[in-house]
Amino acid sequence: MKREQWGSRAGFILAAVGSAIGLGNIWRFPYMAYENGGGAFFIPYLFAMLTAGIPFMLMEFSLGHKLRGAAPRTFSKIGVKLEWLGWFQVFIAAIIAVYYVAVIGWAISYFSYSFTQSWGSDTNGFFFSEYLKLGENSPTKLGSLQLHIAIPMVLAWGITFAAIFGGVKGGIERANKILMPLLFIMVMGLITRIVFLPGALDGLNYLFQPDFSKIMDAKVWSAAYGQIFFTLSVGFAIMIAYSSYLPEKSDINNNAFMTVLINCGFSITAGVLIFGVLGYMAQEQAKPITEVVSAGVGLAFVTIPAAINLLPAPYILGPLFFLALVVAGLSSHISIIEAVTSALIDKMNWSRKKAASIVCGVGFIVSLAFATNGGLLLLDLIDYFINNVALLTSCLIELLVIGWLFKAADVRSYANNISEFCVGKWFEICIRFLSPIMLAVILSTNLINTFKEGYGGYAMSDLLLLGWGLVAAMFVVAVIINLASKPQTHQEA
Ligand code: ALA
Repeated sequence: MKREQWGSRAGFILAAVGSAIGLGNIWRFPYMAYENGGGAFFIPYLFAMLTAGIPFMLMEFSLGHKLRGAAPRTFSKIGVKLEWLGWFQVFIAAIIAVYYVAVIGWAISYFSYSFTQSWGSDTNGFFFSEYLKLGENSPTKLGSLQLHIAIPMVLAWGITFAAIFGGVKGGIERANKILMPLLFIMVMGLITRIVFLPGALDGLNYLFQPDFSKIMDAKVWSAAYGQIFFTLSVGFAIMIAYSSYLPEKSDINNNAFMTVLINCGFSITAGVLIFGVLGYMAQEQAKPITEVVSAGVGLAFVTIPAAINLLPAPYILGPLFFLALVVAGLSSHISIIEAVTSALIDKMNWSRKKAASIVCGVGFIVSLAFATNGGLLLLDLIDYFINNVALLTSCLIELLVIGWLFKAADVRSYANNISEFCVGKWFEICIRFLSPIMLAVILSTNLINTFKEGYGGYAMSDLLLLGWGLVAAMFVVAVIINLASKPQTHQEA
């Protein structure tokens, strides 16, 4: 069967940018920058972008384009014993997909609430008690299914399913051609209003003010690298799958630079937006900004609703913000599901329609675990282990495999041969030395800290089952699939 292809170069760029720009840019990046040294965070962030993000994107685009497979097939073509790495990455994508969609579901709910700000004035109490109904639950004591959370998730799954079912050109590309321009227009609309609000510029000062004492802190570097891999959708099977649909004549280097720069530029824009709002809120409430800012999900679903209450024309700016969050999330969710679907199409020879139905059907059922009372806690625990343990491990192994086994020089000359401008030797230095060393230090620090201190105050049994146990199970199953693969499957074109 002939491999599907993108309809146009712009279609591919929009899809790759759509994958990269997601929830991570809007609610993870601004807070992370603020917490990890403000303006000083941009040093490790830009360093990670240049030395790991761009080389990784170039590498994954080249691999997908040259070897024409989803991650498992691509790695099996590099070496028959490497197929497991592709499956490990597909499992990371599958797990992210089932909790990511829950956050999109919350954003859909909040979009509907935002017209009348029906979250009221106590946005904290509303989110945790009335909306999530968190109660006395834990990641392993989930409580009951919450239909009001599950229903918007059905909508999100429906859109993702339609895009994946419709195929690379007719579904994914078409969806991104609608979603991405919509997102850019909405964010531009929001930002032009927000920066003119009183206090907004003070918010930006807070975001960009550098705290250089943080630069020597290993945690800050870990945050920067983790954020770069997650935000660029590299190391978890997505960009390999997307680039496997590129036509033969494609400019790898240009595409990779564009995707990374547009994504990181968007993150900074989102930072300006969020901190502009926080600055305004601090001024309205006559409080220091440190008292109004909050972390992670709390930022988007507690602080922003509280800020929307204070905005002029909240019935316009509120829906715009939450719709932007939904749109950014959906275009990423589509790519995460495609990473899984394309792997199954390759491996099982299923039709796209069959693979899409099975992946979205099973994914939907599993994702309902996150629509329960304890769903947020389950999400928090799994997200931590997937990002800080599984994803960083996957990226480190990929760098070692390509840098040392497959030869980074071959990847570079492959990309240079088909691209308009050439990348220099720095690419190999990053892939073989700089990034693996940085990642090895960061990963081992994370592992030691998590072993010693646990995470988030969760019970040891929960950490063992849903953290360490889950990552170990992903690895074991990936290896079993690899061992069970018949050698001839690796010869297929
Ligand atoms: N790259 C996507 C995000 O940042 C997964 O949300």
